[in-house]
Amino acid sequence: MVTVSVTRCVCNCVTFQELIDLAQRLDPQRELSEDDLIEALAARTRCATGCGTCRPYIRVALRTGKASLPVMSTSQIRGVESSAERK
Ligand code: FES
Repeated sequence: MVTVSVTRCVCNCVTFQELIDLAQRLDPQRELSEDDLIEALAARTRCATGCGTCRPYIRVALRTGKASLPVMSTSQIRGVESSAERK
């Protein structure tokens, strides 16, 4: 069985590891909201500015520090996005 991992914003060729590392440099004290941090990352790398499919994966990568993520189902993606809306 082949396991597929999601590791990057495909539209703009930015890996989640690059984003995790940049997030640490931009906001070492974790003071920004998740949305503001993603916007700051997008402004610098263009991540999440194409199709947007990577946005929930970026949220999970930033929350967990994991740069290689399993493909999420539609309901899992909705769960990630709705938890972000509550923050
Ligand atoms: S995969 Fe990141 S914007 Fe399309």
